[in-house]
Amino acid sequence: MVRVSLAALATAAALPLASAVDISVKATGGNATSPHQYGFLHEDINNSGDGGLYAELIRNRAFQSSNKFNSTLEGWTSVNGAALSLKDLAEPLSKALKTSMHVAAGSSSNGSSGHQVGFSNDGYWGMDVKVQPYAGSFWVKGAYEGSFTASLQSNLTGEVFGSTEIKAKTSPSEWVEHEFKLTPTKNAPNSNNTFSLTFDAAGAKDGSLDFNLISLFPPTYKGRKNGLRIDLAEAIKGFHPTLLRIPGGNMLEGNNRNSWWDWKNTLGPLKDRPGFSGVWNYQQSNGLGLMEYLELAEDMELEIVLGVYNGLSLDGDILSKEELVPFVEDALNQIEFVSGAASTKWGAVRASLGHPAPFKLQYVEVGNEDWLAGKEAGWASFKEYRFPMFLEAINKAHPHITVISSGSVFDGYEIPAPGAGDYHIYGTPDSLVDQFDLFDNVTIPHIIGEAAAVHPNGGKGWDAGLLEYPWWSGTIGEAVSMIGYERNADRIIGAAYAPIIRSLDRWQWSAVMIQFAADPAKTTLSTSWYLWELFAGHLMTHTLPASADFNPLYYVTGKNEEKGSYLFKGAVFNATTDEVPVSVVFEGLKPGTEAELTVLSGPEDPYGFNDPFTGVNVVKTAKTKVVSDTEGKFTFSLPDLSIAVLETKGAKCAKKKREMKMGLRH
Ligand code: AHR
Repeated sequence: MVRVSLAALATAAALPLASAVDISVKATGGNATSPHQYGFLHEDINNSGDGGLYAELIRNRAFQSSNKFNSTLEGWTSVNGAALSLKDLAEPLSKALKTSMHVAAGSSSNGSSGHQVGFSNDGYWGMDVKVQPYAGSFWVKGAYEGSFTASLQSNLTGEVFGSTEIKAKTSPSEWVEHEFKLTPTKNAPNSNNTFSLTFDAAGAKDGSLDFNLISLFPPTYKGRKNGLRIDLAEAIKGFHPTLLRIPGGNMLEGNNRNSWWDWKNTLGPLKDRPGFSGVWNYQQSNGLGLMEYLELAEDMELEIVLGVYNGLSLDGDILSKEELVPFVEDALNQIEFVSGAASTKWGAVRASLGHPAPFKLQYVEVGNEDWLAGKEAGWASFKEYRFPMFLEAINKAHPHITVISSGSVFDGYEIPAPGAGDYHIYGTPDSLVDQFDLFDNVTIPHIIGEAAAVHPNGGKGWDAGLLEYPWWSGTIGEAVSMIGYERNADRIIGAAYAPIIRSLDRWQWSAVMIQFAADPAKTTLSTSWYLWELFAGHLMTHTLPASADFNPLYYVTGKNEEKGSYLFKGAVFNATTDEVPVSVVFEGLKPGTEAELTVLSGPEDPYGFNDPFTGVNVVKTAKTKVVSDTEGKFTFSLPDLSIAVLETKGAKCAKKKREMKMGLRH
C-alpha cells in the first residue's frame, strides 16, 4: 500500500508564515439547519450487535440456525463430564427455537447425590465480571428435583467470583423458565471468564435434562430489560449523536429474498425470535430487534431513519412489481408498528410490548445501496418501479414522512418529489475534502447515510482493504466533508458515521468509530470520535454567510438561536505553512465578547491512530478563552491538520444563569 507521508512533507523544511484568513460573518442571509446533523448507522456487523452493543453475555444462547448456518454447540463446554448434544425435540421450546441442548450425566455420574454436572459458556471472547447484579434466565424440560447452581468463574484459575442456587421447578412434559439474579462478590481481574450452570445428576430422573435460551445480562444502559452494554452505549452517546439509521446497511437487504432482516422476527419474547443468518458471516440472535433499536433512539434522543426492505437482496435477486406488493404492505405495517396509535393493528402490538406511545418517525429509507447489488438491473428496477411504489404508498398513508431513496442524485437518479436521497462515501482524505462543495447546488434533500475515511491517499483503494483504525489525516478529511454537509444543512438531513463499532475479536470491517472487546477497558474512542464529538457537541440552528475563501481552511459559520451563540467550525487540511492565522468577526456582535475555542490537533505522523492495545490517544485537545478585540475580531491560529470550533458564550444561557441565580428559574 502506498502512503503519502504528510509528516515528511511537513517536516522537510521550515514552512513560511501564511497570510491570515479573515472571515467576516454576516448577521443574516444563511439558512436554518437540520437538527439531526450528526449520527450513526447501526447494523450487526463486526459483532457490533450480538456480542457488542447488545448486552447479552451468553454466546449461542439458543442454538439458532438459519439457511446459512446450522445449529452448533459453539461456545458451550461440558462441566464434570456431562455429555452435551443438540436435539430437535418433538416439543421444542417454541416454533422459533426448535433446537435445544440435551445434558446427560452419563457415565460421569456414579448416582450419588451431589454430583454436579452441567455446562459452561465462554461468552463473546470472554465476559466482564464485576460486583454488580447480573440477570439470568434459562428454560429447562425434564423431571428434576433439586436446584441449579449458576456461577461466574475465571477460565484461567477456576476461581469463582459469584454463584447462586436456583430452586428447580421443572416438569417432564413442559418447558419451564427459571430466572435468577447473580451478584459476584469480587471483580474478576480480566475478562477471561465463563458462566456455568450445573445440577445434581442424581436428582434428574434419567440423569439428563434439556436446556434452551440460557441468558445472562449485566446491568444495561438505562436499566432496560434485554438492553444495551453500558460502556458502549455511553461511548456512542458521548459524541452527542442526533440521528440513528437502522437496521443497515447490507443487513437490511439480507442474502436472498428468503433471508432479509424481517423486523417481525425481532419482536416480543426472546423465545419467539428465530434468529437471522445475517450477511456478515455469523448467525445472529435477533435479540437486538426493532423495539430495542427504537428504545435506543428514545433513550439517546435520536431521530430515526428507518430502513424498509424493498425487494433487492445481496445476491442481486429482484422482486417483480407483483411480488413487491406484499412488501409495500409490510413496510406500511412496520411504519404503523413504530408510529401508529395504540388503537391501530400494529400500534397495538407495540403497545403490548410495553410502549403504547407512538415513536416519532419522520424519515423512512427504502432499501440500501440499490445501485450496488444486482448492478444495472437492480438500480434500474429501483428507479423504474421499486422506489416509486414505496414512495407513493408511504406518502399516501403518511404525508409527513420523508421517503428516502437508497441512492443519491450522484448515483444518477433524478429522485422524484417529494423523495429524498442517500449518499454514501467511504473515501480517502482527499476524496472527502472533495466533498466540501458537493451539495452546494443540490436542491433535493439527502442524508449522508454512511460516511468515513477508510483508505489512505495514493493507495489502492478497495483493492488494498481498509485501514485498521481511523487515523488522524483521515479524520481531518472527514471534518472537511462534515463542514461541507453542515453548510448545506437546510438540505442535508444528517450524516451518519458507519459502521459505528467493532469487536476486536471478530470483525469484517475495520476503520470504525469505536473499538471494543469483552473487557470494557479495551473500549477505544478513535480519532474520528473526537471530531464527531466536537462538531456534534456544537450544533448550529442556522448558518450565516461569510466572506473568506476556503482551502486550506475549510469552515462554516452560523448561530445557535436556542443558546444565543455564534459559531465557527473549521478544519485545516494540507496547509503550506505550519500554522494558519485566522480572524473571525460576527456582524452585530459587540467587541469584548467571550468565546471558547477548542482546537484538536494530532500526532506528528498523520497516520497516527488511537490504539486499543496501547491505550495511546493521539488527539490533543486545547480549549482556550478568546475575547473579541475592539473591532469585534476573534484572532487565533490553527495548525495544519487541525480541527476547531469557536462558540461565543450564549446570550440565552447567560440570561438563564442570571435568572437562576436570582431565583427566577428552577
Ligand atoms: O457499513 C458497512 C456496509 O457498507 C454497509 O452495510 C453497506 O451499506 C455499505 O456498503
